[in-house]
Amino acid sequence: MIIAVDGPAASGKGTIARALAKHYRLPHLDTGLLYRAVAANVQRLELDPGIEADCVAACDFDESLLDDPILRTDEIGKLASVVSAHPLVRSALLHRQRRFAHQPGGAVLDGRDIGTVIAPDADAKLFIRATPTIRAKRRHAELRAHGSTVSLDRVLLDIRARDLRDSTRGTAPMTPADDAALLDTSFLSIDAAIQRAIALVEARTAAKVATP
Ligand code: CDP
Ligand code: CDP
Repeated sequence: MIIAVDGPAASGKGTIARALAKHYRLPHLDTGLLYRAVAANVQRLELDPGIEADCVAACDFDESLLDDPILRTDEIGKLASVVSAHPLVRSALLHRQRRFAHQPGGAVLDGRDIGTVIAPDADAKLFIRATPTIRAKRRHAELRAHGSTVSLDRVLLDIRARDLRDSTRGTAPMTPADDAALLDTSFLSIDAAIQRAIALVEARTAAKVATP
C-alpha cells in the first residue's frame, strides 16, 4: 500500500504520515528532508541557490547529512523552497523517492508532490491543510521551544512566502491531486487529525477493493 501525504508547512502532514506509517507498519519517508539536505549543502559549499547547476551539484550529499539538526532550522526550510523550484534538482531526487514508494509492501511518503508526481498511483492520497495563521502559531511554538526568539509575524510572513513559492513554481507545484482527500487540521487535536486520516485511508482503500 502506498500512502501519499502532501500539504504546506506546519499543516501537520509529517505528524500524520508518521502515525499512518506506525498504524499500517509501513516505512516512512519525509521527502522535505531531501530538499533540506540539498539546501544545507548549497550553504555549506557556499554555492548560489539561484543557480540551477550549483543546486544540482549540491544534490550529491552525504547520507549522514540527513540526520544533521541544521536541516530542521527555518533558514534551511526557506532555502529548501528556493532550491526545490529548480526542475533539475527535482529530477535528481525523483528516482530515490519513487524507489522508496514502490518498495515491496509499500510506504508512506510526505511532501508537496507525492500524490501528483512521485506516486500518482498511490492507493490513498491525503492533502493536509490548516489556515496560515494556525500553521504560523504551530511553527512559532516549535521554534520558540528550540530557543529561537523569532516573532510570530515573521514566521507568518515566511510561511506565506513559502506557500506562494511552492504553489506557483513551474515544475511539480504544491497542489492537491484530483483524487486526494482533503483534511483540514486547523481545529483538530493531533489525535483527532490522526484518527480522521486513518478513516480517510480506510475509505479510499475500501473503495478501491470494491471497484478494482
Ligand atoms: O510536517 P508539517 O510541517 O506539515 O507539520 P508537523 O511537523 O507534522 O506539525 C507542525 C506542528 O504542529 C507540530 O508541532 C505538531 O505537533 C503540531 N500539530 C498540531 O498542533 N495539531 C495538529 N493537528 C497537527 C500538528
Ligand atoms: O516541514 P515543512 O513543511 O516546513 O517543510 P518540508 O516538508 O521539510 O519542505 C521544505 C521545502 O522543500 C518545501 O517548502 C518545498 O519547497 C520543498 N519540498 C518540495 O518541493 N517537494 C517535496 N516533496 C517536499 C518538500
